[in-house]
Formats: sequence, C-alpha cells, structure tokens
Amino acid sequence: ALLLFIVVFILTADYIKNRRLTGFPPGPPALPIVGNIFTLDHKRTHESMTELAGRYGDVYSMRMGQRWVVVLNGFEAVTQALVTQGDSFSDRPSIPLYDDIFHGLGVILSNGHMWKQQRRFALSTLKYFGFGKKSLEPMILEEFTYVAKEISAYKGKPFNPHLIVNNTVANIICLLVFGHRFEYGDEQFKKMMKLFEQSIQIQVSVLAELYNAFPQLMRCLPGPHQKFKRINEELKDFVRTEVKDHKQKWDPSDLRDFIDYYLNEIQMVTEKSLFTFDEECLIMSVLDLFGAGSETTSTTLRWAFLFMVKYPEIQERVQAEIDSVIGQSRPPSVDDRADLPYTDAVIHEIQRMGNIVPLNLPHVTNRDVHLRGYTIPKGVTIIPNLTSVLFDKREWKTPFTFNPGHFLNEEGKFVKPAAFIPFSAGKRLCLGENLARMELFLFFTSFMQHFTFSMPPGVKPVLDYRFGITLSPVHYEICAKPRHE
Ligand code: HEM
Repeated sequence: ALLLFIVVFILTADYIKNRRLTGFPPGPPALPIVGNIFTLDHKRTHESMTELAGRYGDVYSMRMGQRWVVVLNGFEAVTQALVTQGDSFSDRPSIPLYDDIFHGLGVILSNGHMWKQQRRFALSTLKYFGFGKKSLEPMILEEFTYVAKEISAYKGKPFNPHLIVNNTVANIICLLVFGHRFEYGDEQFKKMMKLFEQSIQIQVSVLAELYNAFPQLMRCLPGPHQKFKRINEELKDFVRTEVKDHKQKWDPSDLRDFIDYYLNEIQMVTEKSLFTFDEECLIMSVLDLFGAGSETTSTTLRWAFLFMVKYPEIQERVQAEIDSVIGQSRPPSVDDRADLPYTDAVIHEIQRMGNIVPLNLPHVTNRDVHLRGYTIPKGVTIIPNLTSVLFDKREWKTPFTFNPGHFLNEEGKFVKPAAFIPFSAGKRLCLGENLARMELFLFFTSFMQHFTFSMPPGVKPVLDYRFGITLSPVHYEICAKPRHE
C-alpha cells in the first residue's frame, strides 16, 4: 500500500508540475517523468521533429525529462523568434553536462555580459583574419596544396576522405588561433584530433542525454561526465601549452593570431570587475572555435564530394565554369566568386541539402514571450529547427531534390533566398560564417579544379546520414582522379 501511495504521489506531483499551462504551445502527449523522450526516433530526431509540426503546427512543445522544449518550424516562425523578437530568444539554456565541465565560459555556452564581450572580441578578430591584411586566404590555398598531395598519393584508388578533410579544416583553425599548422602525421596533432572525436562521441551518446535529463541522479553515478571531463582537461592542457608559448614570444607590435590578440586584450584591462577576459576564458574560446569551426566545415566538404559523385553532370558543369573563368594556371581567389555563379549556387545547395546543423543550437527564452498566439514563459528551451527551414515547402521549389537552380535567377545570376539560413539568424548567428564561406568556396573550387571525384568501381553513392553533433554522411570511400598531370 505504501508503494502504491508513493507511485500515485509521484505521478500526481509530476502531472501538476508538468501540465501544459493555458496558452502554452500544444504538442504530443507526454509520459509521466520521462515526458516525450520516446516520442522521437533518435536516429533521425530532426526529421521526427519536423514531421510533428505537420500535426501540431509550426510552434509546438514537448517535454524532455523534466525540461519543457518549444520547437519552432518553418522560415516564418524561426526568423520571427530569432530575428524579429531576437532579444527574448538570444540566450543559451543550461545544459548540465556542459555546465559541469565548461562552467559557461567562452562564446557558445555563455550568456549575458560574458557572451557579449567574448562574442564581440571573437567576431572582430575573425574579421581581421578573414579580410584584413592578415587574411587567411593564402593559408587556405596553401593548406589545399598539402591535402591535394595527400589525395594524389592514392593515384585515383579508393580512400576514405573523412580523416584527411578533418585534418585539413582543423589546420585552418590552428592557423587562426595558434598561428601555425601541423603536419598531418604529427603525434600531438593526431592526439588532439582523437580527443575531439572522443569528446563528440560522448556528447551524442544516450548516456549524455540521460545525464542532461536527470542530472542530480546521474552526477552520483559513474558515467560519461568523468570521461568527458578527463578528455576536455587534456584538450585544455594542449591549448594551455600553446598559450604559455605565446606568452613567451608575445610582442604587442606584432599580434600573430587569436591567442596573441586575446593576450593583448587581457593586458588592456582597466575595469577589472566587468572584464571577462582571462586565461581560462581564452582556453574555452579557443576550444569553442575548434568545436564549432572544424567538424562543421569538414562535414560540409564531405557532403560536397558525395553530391558531386551522385550528380556527375553537375560536377562537370562546375569544372567547366572553373576552367573557363580561372583556368589551370592559378589558384582560385575569393574575388572569383562573383564570376562563378553556378559553382556558388552548387556550394549553397550542398549546404542546404547537407543540413549539417539540423536542429540549430538550443536557445532559451530570457523573459515571458508571446509568439504567434502562444505564451512561452521565461526559461523554456527553444529549438529553432533549421531542417524545417532548409526544406520548407513554402520556400523552396523542389525542397527534397538537389537543385542548384534554387540559387540562380532566370539570367543565371546567383541569388540567395532568405530561407537559406544554415548558419542560423539573429543575435546568435554563427560567428564563423564568413570564414566558413571562404573556406568552402576556396576548398571546393580548388578540389574541382584539380580532381574529378567518382565512386569506387561497382559502388553506388549513398546519401545516408548519421545524426550526431552534425548531420554527417555515413563513412564512404571515394576515388579522386587528378584532372591534369
Ligand atoms: C554557432 C553553423 C562554421 C563558430 C553556430 C550555429 C550554427 C552554426 C547553426 C548556432 C547559431 C544559433 O545558436 O542560432 C555553422 C555552419 C558552419 C559553421 C553550418 C560551416 C559550414 C563555423 C566556423 C566557426 C564557427 C568556421 C569559427 C571559426 C561558431 C561559434 C558559434 C557558432 C563560436 C556560437 C555563436 C554564439 O553562441 O554566439 N554555427 N557554423 N562556426 N558558430 Fe558556426
């Protein structure tokens, strides 16, 4: 009888605490305690979430464990929240696994004053390296020569591009933050890349999901957090060593990279109490740039190869355009973009169809808000579902078909529809968008200039994905035939 009483008590308390209040967005019925955890197909969460909008509307709610989540779908609802009502939706929610290890430092996970200062600093430093006299353009082109050499060594035989592309893109972040690249075979570099991969694996594991749904309980158990902590301490140590080295060679008249700039910012401290720049925060900002800027761009390039082998006629047309505008005697430059509308359209369509950050990063309401007829209280997690925007039937002519025509007008000129928001929109808009776009353009055109990609003999290209931190293609092998000796 006591057991029955406890069960009834827990279920009643759960019902009272977690019922949907009047005006709150509707959504699928939730189970006691666990909520809607089992409503979604976790191998294709982004598609499940998009499908639910068909039943409950563009703004609907779900409960993940004890946490209420509102999912926004379609271009209109997502941009209304993130752009028109951006002030109310710009914060990040607390995510127990990250809070316990990163303590809200850096850019991605921070809020308020810390976020504003760190974001402004990172944006201006990236702008300097993107387009100023220290532009990363020549370094990206140089990095291409290393990856081209690596790929050429396969002599047109099948290889898995995953690691090679990851290393290439990670080196661009190394150049940005450390001021130097690594040889792909360098032991320290290999170790760092492995740690990042392990860290990602833990973040997408079921245990991490459980940890975030039931943190009080999970903190007491052995679980992913100890390993996650260990891995991230090692990554921090790696950055710490670089920071130490930078401090020894630091020269304010010659600021070489992100770390130098950051050390400069720390030196300029005048009003300590409002100042969020210190070495711990520097380390987290560096890890943020790796975390957000490496896997994303490399996954997009891996989708690019797959789409090109799936649609060889599109690959040929891109190569023909590059041949006629750039030729073979010089590398591409960002200034060529305007003269390569078809290539530009193909890159955008790869990003749209690749949909690599399918559910965006989570946001949270920082006050009670009214959105499209609903009331959402302060503190509710918001998922601005990018899948539902990049495949929104109301915005795209053929949403589920690879069609570069989405980005070309009748005269064949490049146009960008407003619903193209793979980098999100509003106040939290991807901080590395310009760098990512430069990398994608320079790497993609260089690859197309030098190689023709195809599947190994007898193998058909499969566009299947793995749902994780990014939506990435399942591992595949590919052949790259040099176009010119
Ligand atoms: C945030 C996409 C590359 C740095 C984001 C967000 C998305 C995104 C969707 C979340 C925005 C939001 O919360 O509303 C992408 C894609 C990329 C890419 C598709 C490549 C194809 C990069 C690169 C860097 C970078 C190269 C840096 C070097 C960041 C940072 C944030 C962020 C720091 C957090 C911004 C904040 O919280 O204020 N990105 N990103 N990203 N991205 Fe990117």
